[in-house]
Amino acid sequence: MEPAQLITQKLVEPSILSADYARLGEQVGAVLDAGARAIHVDVMDGHFVPPITIGPVIVEAIREQVHEAGGIIDCHLMIERPERQVGEFAKAGADLITIQAEATPNVHYALRQIREHGCLAGLAINPGTRPEAASELVDVVDLVLCMTVNPGWGGQPFIERSPKKVRQLRKVLGLDVPIQVDGGISVGTAPAVKREGASLFVAGSQIFHAPDAAAAYRELAEAIE
Ligand code: DX5
Ligand code: ZN
Repeated sequence: MEPAQLITQKLVEPSILSADYARLGEQVGAVLDAGARAIHVDVMDGHFVPPITIGPVIVEAIREQVHEAGGIIDCHLMIERPERQVGEFAKAGADLITIQAEATPNVHYALRQIREHGCLAGLAINPGTRPEAASELVDVVDLVLCMTVNPGWGGQPFIERSPKKVRQLRKVLGLDVPIQVDGGISVGTAPAVKREGASLFVAGSQIFHAPDAAAAYRELAEAIE
C-alpha cells in the first residue's frame, strides 16, 4: 500500500524511543510481525526539547526491514529549524516527516520542503499551541499530530484535556486530514481520542516496556478498532 493511503487507515504506531537499542532489529521485527505498518522515530536535538535521541543513521538502519514488511518510517522531528534536516531524513529512508509548529518561523516552507523531498508531511502541535495554528496549513499537510504530552520523554501521563483538543482540531481541519496522537497512549486513553477523530496512535512505553511487545501492540490495535 502507498504511504499516502496507509496513513488514511487506523494505525497503532510503535515508537522506538522506548525500545532497547541493543536489540533494535529484533524489537522492530516483533511489532512488524504482529501487524504494525508504521514505525515512529522520535528525533530530539537537546534544544527544542532537553534530551538528545537519534538521527538519520537509525532510520537508515531499519529502512530495509520496515519497507520489506510493507511498512513506513514516520520521523517525528522535535528539533529546532527542522527545514535544515529534512533532506538527510528523506535520504535515510523516511516516508513521513513531522515537524513541530513551534520549531521554526518558516513552517509552511518546511512542510513544502518535506513534500519536495518525496515524503508525506506532518505538522505537530504542542499542548500549549492553539488548534488554529494548523488552519493556514491544511493544503500543505498530510497529517496533523496533536501532542497528548509535552514532547521530550516517553512514559509521561496523558494530558486529560487532549480529547477536547482533538475535537477542536477536527473542526479546524475538516474531515480529510488524519489526526495523529502521541504521548500517554494506552488501552485506557486511546478510545477517548479516537471518539473525537484521531486515527493514528503512537505508543512507546506501552508497547516496548511491556513483557511482550507483540502482544501489547495487538491489544492496542484491538482497542482502536
Ligand atoms: C514524546 C514522543 C513520543 C513518545 C511517546 O516526546 O514524541 O513519541 O515515544 O511515548 P509514550 O507512548 O511512552 O508516552
Ligand atoms: Zn513522537
